Formats: sequence, structure tokens, C-alpha cells
Amino acid sequence: MTQIKEDIYWVGAVDWCIRNFHSYITHRGSSYNSYLVVDEKVALIDFVKAPFAEEQVTRISEVIDPKKVDYIVANHAEPDHSGSIRRLLEACPNAEMIATERCVNTLRKYYGDDIKATPIEKTPSLKLGKRSLTFVPVPMAHWPDSMVSYMPEEKLLFSNDAFGQHLASSGRFDDEVDEAELMQEASTYYANILMPLWRSVSRALKALEGVKVEMIAPSHGIVWRKDPGKILAAYQGWVAGVSRKRAVVVYDTMWGSTQILARAIADGIASKGVEVRVHCLGTSPSSDVIADILDAKAVIVGSPTLNNHIFPTVAGFLAYMHGLKPVNKIGAAFGSYGWAGGAKKVVETEMQASGIQMVESDIDFVFKPNGDETKRAYAFGQMMGEKVLAV
Ligand code: FEO
Repeated sequence: MTQIKEDIYWVGAVDWCIRNFHSYITHRGSSYNSYLVVDEKVALIDFVKAPFAEEQVTRISEVIDPKKVDYIVANHAEPDHSGSIRRLLEACPNAEMIATERCVNTLRKYYGDDIKATPIEKTPSLKLGKRSLTFVPVPMAHWPDSMVSYMPEEKLLFSNDAFGQHLASSGRFDDEVDEAELMQEASTYYANILMPLWRSVSRALKALEGVKVEMIAPSHGIVWRKDPGKILAAYQGWVAGVSRKRAVVVYDTMWGSTQILARAIADGIASKGVEVRVHCLGTSPSSDVIADILDAKAVIVGSPTLNNHIFPTVAGFLAYMHGLKPVNKIGAAFGSYGWAGGAKKVVETEMQASGIQMVESDIDFVFKPNGDETKRAYAFGQMMGEKVLAV
């Protein structure tokens, strides 16, 4: 248990060991945050993931008898925030649950028709005593049921998934962890969870305009107490698709040919003074690649042709990127093949379907690229570098 403000406590769980969060590789673990507000009435905000149910009950018990919890606010039904529901309802038998109608329906589908809750459509705010909670639906930030809870007396926003990070830490606040690691995990989280929902996130940010926020308590990672403006400003840039002078070259290789082209293209881009990040999909998880793409201007993807199709790792990456739909990017495809090609065309089609504005490319060579072909790949990289500088 950690006090985040007078009579407001973190009662969540740190998941040090998770390394795969529905295909998002979480190098630094995560946390499932839950908060307890002790006033004339006692409110618990959010559950935690199922394996940590007992830990959540123990942390609540360090502050107050769980039987004294009057309300449980469920901001979101995804199982990382609702998995402990059965154990918590048992430990807090006098609690009334509050959620959006869609959240209640989703919780019933996951956990059974006997789940009862008062929809926020009937109770848009709750007086707890000195403090109160106002519930604001933020559909599709992250699921249709999502909402945030705002405590005006403390200027405190319980933001659920928004402004979170998959970051396990002993510190509970932004000023207790390494700032570079924190912002890296915040941007990786945004890229892998919220990027395709940027319109909904943008609407949520608009709804926050004019609302005084001095602390943001998300449901993953640390609490923003030192500088909540830093993450708000970062989100403004991400939803607007603001990019750096950066290109990301992504590829996999069968016998080294596509790798020769990837390296030549990267060198050509870098020769123009543009930052390049190179990922081989044999070793880089797609979620790491997407994190680098978030604020890059260009994405260049290469694949060998295997059995007249694209390489399986490249197919997996393209499917992942298709779902996340990076905003405001230019791109190109390249590849190598043995006799009948085909991979480059599939890559182009799939990148276009992801919303990427494609630049025409003829970098697609038979067997191993020779010296002239490698030079053409370098020159193509230079041209892509110039395009990045031009925008
Ligand atoms: Fe952290 Fe949408 O759940």
C-alpha cells in the first residue's frame, strides 16, 4: 500500500515478470493499479488482474476493513482491470459497483449474469464526503466501455488505460523512476495500445481541456505527480501524428540478400543526416518496431519471397501494424527472390492497407544483390532520406 494523497492509497499489484501482454512484449513488466479513497464513504477504483486478487485484498486490508468499502468503481472491463472481481465482491460485500452500461454488460459476459452495478448513466457523480468523483465516458480509449473518474477537490484524474505505461517499478511516482525509461515505456504503450484509437484519445484530451489536473493516476505504471503536463503534452503530439526526422527499416532475411539491401538502404538514409532505426524481425518483436515507428516519418519494409509469398515473420509484423494503423507516414517496400518474386507486391499492398502513403520502389532483386544493385538500394535510401527531410 502506498499513500498517493491524504487518505487516497494505491492498492494495486506490480507484475514484475510479465513479458507478453497480448503480443506486446513488455520488457519492463507492468502493474495493475487500483486506488482506495477513504472519506465518509469509501471507494475502491478498479480491480486488478486475476492472479493478484489476494494481493489487492491484502493491500486494502492494510488501510481499512474491506467490508467498509461502499463503492467499487470499474473504469474498464478488460480482464487486466477486472480479473479480481469475484474475490473483491466477496471481500467487499457491502460495496455498490459503479460502471458504464457497456462495462456492466461486458463484466456480465466475462464473469456471469449475477454481476450487479449502477450505471454511470444514472449516477454521473458520487459524493464521498470531503471529496467526490465525476465519471466521464471515454469510449474506445481503450474499449467501448472505458471511462475515467475525476476528483475535482484534489484535481486528480483516475485515467485507467490512458497515460499508462507497462513498467514494473518499486517507485509509484514519476519522480521515483528513471525519466528516460518512463517516457520510453509511455510512448511504447501508446504506440501498441492506443495509436489506432487516436481519434477517441483526441476527443478525450479535448474533454480534459479546461479541467484542472494536478495528478494523473493511470491503471498501469506510475502516478504522474511531478509533471502531469509532460504526459499530456506527449499525448497531444502523438494524436496529431507529429514525427521526427526518422526512418525505420524493417526486414527479415532468408539467405542474407534482403539484409544486404536493408543495410544499404539504411546507410543511404543516414547519409542524408536522417536518423535510422533498423529492425530484423528474426530478433525484434513487432511491438518494439511499432514503438520506433510511432514518431518516425518513414517506414521501409523488406521481405524475401518464400514459396511465392512473403516471409512469415514479415507477414506477422504487417498484420500487427495493419491493426495499429500508424498515423501520417510515408513508406516503401523492397525484397529479394529466387525465380518468381511476389513478396514485395504483398508488402506494398499490406502497407497501403495500413494507411501508409507509399513511395514507388524497384528494389527487388534476384538471388544475391550484386554491387550495382546494392548501390541502387543505397541510392534509394538517399532518396527516402530526402523525402523525410522534405516534410
Ligand atoms: Fe489495461 Fe484496456 O486494459
